[in-house]
Amino acid sequence: DTRDPTSLRTPIVAVLGHVDHGKTSLLDKIRGSAVIEGEAGAITQHIGATAVPLDIISTIAGDLVDPDDFDLPGLLFIDTPGHHSFTTLRSRGGALADIAILVVDVNDGFQPQTLEALDILRRSETPFIVAANKIDTVPGWNPNEDAPINDTYESQSDRVRERLDESLYEIIGNLSDEGFSADLYWRVQNFQRNVGVVPVSAMTGEGVPDLLTVMMGLSQRYMKEEMEIDVAGPGVGTVLEVKEEKGFGTTIDTVLYDGTIRSDDRIVVGGQNEPIVTDVRALLQPRPLAEIRTESRFEKVDEVSAATGIKVAAPELADAMAGAPVRVVRDRDVDEVIEEVRAEL
Ligand code: GTP
Ligand code: MG
Repeated sequence: DTRDPTSLRTPIVAVLGHVDHGKTSLLDKIRGSAVIEGEAGAITQHIGATAVPLDIISTIAGDLVDPDDFDLPGLLFIDTPGHHSFTTLRSRGGALADIAILVVDVNDGFQPQTLEALDILRRSETPFIVAANKIDTVPGWNPNEDAPINDTYESQSDRVRERLDESLYEIIGNLSDEGFSADLYWRVQNFQRNVGVVPVSAMTGEGVPDLLTVMMGLSQRYMKEEMEIDVAGPGVGTVLEVKEEKGFGTTIDTVLYDGTIRSDDRIVVGGQNEPIVTDVRALLQPRPLAEIRTESRFEKVDEVSAATGIKVAAPELADAMAGAPVRVVRDRDVDEVIEEVRAEL
């Protein structure tokens, strides 16, 4: 066995979709299920992201996921707002992602931000699956808390199944209108060619085992090679948000997708006019809820490795832009790094 798990990073999963279709609820449900399983400590809330390790995925997915079949460490989810004014954030999240979940309300169907998200995924060539959410709202639905979709589907009346099927086929039709060949996920053989549709409920957890299984399988099967990184190398990431923080000045919420960033690193960040060269003052992570005291919501860390969300405090960040690249200089020639950042702007 020549596997070296330390060099395989966590795939980055963007959760996209129209406002109120249930993106945040779905992530809350995944977090909540882990709490019920008594393993909450293992799920970590990052800046702008949630890391779900493989053993938790496997616990939630039950028989559907055998951890021995996987060597990727888990999944890192990025939530994005559906509100129309957040296009940039959505598009950054979408482009940054290795893989995505497009959340569609089964009753509400395709809406403006659904189409916009599809466009982002198309342009960035990001593989994705569709979570057909809120199946529990189909009239007459018989809920089966946290059940795999096949089990709960079997326990519904014919009438309910027909109604759900109708909604699902409408979504499949909409995807086809947009040029994506799609089908219910259990009929999909090649997830690179066809979009799998997974019926779920963020409310009852039904279908969530399936969703996690498909995401994990898709990553392992098609993305493993791209996940092989030099973890110790100079970090590379993307700015999700530029934020003022009391006591720290301007900070950048960053998703690191390659290498390591340290609290004494020099970094180059894409700015509104020119790349910004600056020295990290602090790397900040949210403090676990139980530890929150008055002084700070954040705790300082010495270093973090990809894939992760991290808040970077440094001087001169006022002109930093959401979506801009962040690169660690370390022992490289700073001019070379500046050129790389400029090329990505
Ligand atoms: P934005 O971040 O504003 O774009 O919305 P969102 O996609 O994150 O939606 P959110 O998770 O905030 O859910 C919107 C509403 O739908 C909330 O009232 C949820 O409780 C409800 N909701 C989400 N998922 C489900 C579901 O599966 N079933 C039911 N019945 N309600 C749901
Ligand atoms: Mg939300």
